[in-house]
Amino acid sequence: MRRNFYVANWKMYKTVKEAIEFLNAFIPLVKDINAKDIAIAPSFVCIDAVGRNIKNTKIKLCAQNAFYENQGAYTGEISPLMLKALDVEYVIIGHSERRRYFNETDEIINKKIKACLKENLKVIFCIGETLSERENNETEKILNSQLENGLKEIEIPESIVVAYEPVWAIGTGKVASDEQIKEAHLFVRKKLEEIFGEKAQTIRILYGGSVSPENIDSIMAIENVDGVLVGGASLDPLKFSKIINHKQN
Ligand code: PGA
Repeated sequence: MRRNFYVANWKMYKTVKEAIEFLNAFIPLVKDINAKDIAIAPSFVCIDAVGRNIKNTKIKLCAQNAFYENQGAYTGEISPLMLKALDVEYVIIGHSERRRYFNETDEIINKKIKACLKENLKVIFCIGETLSERENNETEKILNSQLENGLKEIEIPESIVVAYEPVWAIGTGKVASDEQIKEAHLFVRKKLEEIFGEKAQTIRILYGGSVSPENIDSIMAIENVDGVLVGGASLDPLKFSKIINHKQN
């Protein structure tokens, strides 16, 4: 049985002070918080402070990115080794904003996933089609190649979470329809089984893209949806807690 997973991706929002204020408001709002699987991905500069402030909870610390080398002359980069030393447990890799604005290719993403796994970090691997790819009926082709290339030579599926995030639904308020989510998640599940065989059963598939307290019940009721990756709505303690406290929980 896969446990539902709720991940906050704060992107480039919140100062350290704002991050702590969020936690102080958020933690008491979540029902039965220690029975839930929750991760928060703050910016790098907030990771240490957030980590210290969630120490007494079961909330997991997550990073939004990592480089594929552990050290070296790579100005501005952060390594898996450095994250591990701060008790980071999960790293988001391959987010569409990294693919789009920072030219991350499937090959770079694959290197990053491998580097994180080597440091015993778990990975939230993001995939998803753009609007034009969907309109050209290329959704499955894109998901297929992102999964094949991103997961090439990866042998520890139990450390992988996949997040399906249609690019056109991210930050736009346009949620994919239940049918679109169902189809994509089924496709991803089958592809993971093809790659990893029975071991794929442990891999959780999250949906991301304009998730909100208003649509969480219907999203979580869809087959093969094992949780959500939340951007905008995760910045607000009330909204993110409502998402976690949804009907089935
Ligand atoms: P959103 O972002 O919830 O603001 O659409 C999701 C994401 O980018 O992970």
